[in-house]
Amino acid sequence: MTEIPRLIEEFNRSNEDLRDWTGQIFRGLCSDAEHRWLFFNTLSYMEHIGSYKIMATQLANVIDYPTLKHLNEETGHAVLFKRHAERLKGAGVDYSETVLIAPASARAYFGRLEAAMVGEFGRHANYRTIYLYMSLIVEFRAVWAYQILERCIAAEQLGFSLDKLLAEEQGHLNSMVRRLNDDEQFSEIRVHQFWSRERKLYVRLMNAIEKQLGCKAYKRASNHPDSLAYSPA
Ligand SMILES: [Fe+2]
Ligand SMILES: [Fe+2]
Repeated sequence: MTEIPRLIEEFNRSNEDLRDWTGQIFRGLCSDAEHRWLFFNTLSYMEHIGSYKIMATQLANVIDYPTLKHLNEETGHAVLFKRHAERLKGAGVDYSETVLIAPASARAYFGRLEAAMVGEFGRHANYRTIYLYMSLIVEFRAVWAYQILERCIAAEQLGFSLDKLLAEEQGHLNSMVRRLNDDEQFSEIRVHQFWSRERKLYVRLMNAIEKQLGCKAYKRASNHPDSLAYSPA
């Protein structure tokens, strides 16, 4: 049986160089009234894409209880961020390109990761396996990034917490590993390979966010992590 805490620790270690940069961007976004509602709307959009992708990879007649629960919780995360985006804006907001930050890169984050998995498993891939791996890899990033964001939200006293969301994301991580193991599909080699791809897409997304924001307040240090690939410890 896989040790999830060990994998989380390994993920954290291999992403340590992205932590300050990420925190700096999140702090900048959360402290800026012009941008914070756009940011939460973008997170809502990403959660919505995630939940849509769960639906798209399931056949209606085989969707099981853990998948429905997962779908329900990811939709709930989209609702949570949407609620606070609208509260902070003081008005309703949809997912138009003008009210999102770097939406094309947000879509590319999921689309390219999924394409990498389809490429790995082949054209006749079992979509359940792809769904489980996609969710697993995205959950590692979600737990990591939302822990950083949680501190920024608290520091800026934005009036909500990510406690419940974080507990659910952690639960999804556990569930994906358990289900991949049950299907005899879990492979740490694959996890490492997909972590490496995901990391590049994450950096690309964060770069796009900085670019759209004009980079000034969010300028990172010159030793940019763009070119660093994940290397197993
Ligand atoms: Fe989520
Ligand atoms: Fe999740």
